Parts: sequence; structure tokens; C-alpha cells
Amino acid sequence: MDNLDLNRLPKHIAIIMDGNGRWAQEKGQDRLYGHFHGVQSVRNIVEAASEIGIKYLTLYAFSTENWDRPAAEVAGLMSLFVDTIAKEVPDLHKNNIKLHFIGNLSLLPDDAKAALQNATQTTANNTGLELIIALSYSSRWELIQAIKNIAEKVQTGQMQPEDIQEATLEAALSTSAFPDPELMIRTSGEYRISNFLLYQLAYAELYFTETRWPDFRKKDLIEAILDFQSRERRFGKTSLQVQTNE
Ligand code: FPP
Repeated sequence: MDNLDLNRLPKHIAIIMDGNGRWAQEKGQDRLYGHFHGVQSVRNIVEAASEIGIKYLTLYAFSTENWDRPAAEVAGLMSLFVDTIAKEVPDLHKNNIKLHFIGNLSLLPDDAKAALQNATQTTANNTGLELIIALSYSSRWELIQAIKNIAEKVQTGQMQPEDIQEATLEAALSTSAFPDPELMIRTSGEYRISNFLLYQLAYAELYFTETRWPDFRKKDLIEAILDFQSRERRFGKTSLQVQTNE
């Protein structure tokens, strides 16, 4: 922690929490046992991010594609979300954390929708870490929603095709209120983005670790941030331009 440069923290970190199933299977347990333990990591990382001074943290909890998993795993995950959110909201609120949910939330069961709504409303005025949970989320789904939204504006004459800019698309995404992630972490040794924030990750530094999500803790987050701080972010410029601030 002492080695972190607090003036060069990524404002927004996005995490693909992968490896719960394998972690459990390696222990001869059911996959849900892994998800259950994954919640401890969520708690630890949210606390750590808040303590370190990260402003935005996005966690990929459930993808659109995850609906195709065995029914028992999907049902188990849904009740885990509902129980965890209900249980954690008072503490999150006490710690000034503001919760957001992104994704096709209309597909969620009613109790999950109610839990999400309650969590969002309770923490709406908090000013600390903004915790964004991607649930029933996929980037291609999000982009299609955004394009439909813009097409409607063009169709009704509120906008001309030539008015469409990067900012137009950004405003139509579910992440419009947040800056793009600067650091994307994926656990468990998979080297993919898996339909996660495809547009928003355009300039993110990508960090992959073999550690399974249920074993991922504050020290692992700090290692990822230290790795981020050791990189030179050029945004298409040359190294010399970056170093001389041209
Ligand atoms: C990926 O591991 C993980 C998930 C699909 C679920 C992640 C959910 C949690 C950690 C619970 C979080 C709870 C809240 C409230 C945010 P996997 O099942 O794909 O693992 P595998 O690749 O080893 O099979």
C-alpha cells in the first residue's frame, strides 16, 4: 500500500470476477459454493477500493450469457444477489458508498428488482465510492439499446445523422454518468473481455491474474494498481510526446 502513488490512482477500475466455479470444483464442492465465497472477495475489494480512494468500481456479476447456465446455478446466483444486497446495503450506506446497477434488469426476478431498487434509492445521496454492479449485462446488448435510442431521436427529427458524435453514443450508454475505466482486471487466468464494456474499455490498461476470484483480496488489488502505475499511458501519442507533455 505504501508503494502506491495516490496521485496516480485509476479513477475507475472494472473487474471481471472469474473463477468461482473452478475454485469450488478444485475443492470438490458445488459451483455455488464458489459464488458464495466470491461474495467475501466482493466485500473485501469494495472496502479496499473505498479505503484506497478509488472513485468508481464496476463489478461484472452476471452476464446476459450467464442466463444459459443450468437453472439451479442461475436460481442460486439470483438468491445470492438478493440476500447479499439486502444484507450489505446498511454497511455500504454507512460507508458512504453509492450503488448503481447496469444491464438488462427487466429480465431479473421481481425480488431481485426490488432489492436493487431499494439499494439504489437508499444510497442515492452518498458521495464516496460509486459501486456499479453489472447484472444481466452485455456490452453488445447495451450498444444496441443505445443505437435504438439514437435512431428514435433521428426518426422523430430531434437529431440529424451528422450530429452523431462520440458524446452522443456515450450519453446513450448505461455508463453515461461514469468516466471510462482506466484499469480492467480479470481473474482466473482467462485472457478475454467477454462482452464487457467493449466501448468504454477502449483505452483501459488490461490486467490478468491467475488468482481465482474467491482468493482475490486487497493485496491483489494493490498489485494490479501498482502494475497500472508502472505503465506509460500514451493514448496514441509517442513516448516523447507523453514525457514532454506535448
Ligand atoms: C464467474 O465465475 C462468476 C460469476 C458468474 C458470478 C459472480 C458473482 C459473485 C462473485 C457474487 C457477487 C455478488 C454480488 C452481490 C455482486 P465462473 O462461475 O464463470 O467460474 P468458472 O469460470 O471457474 O466456471
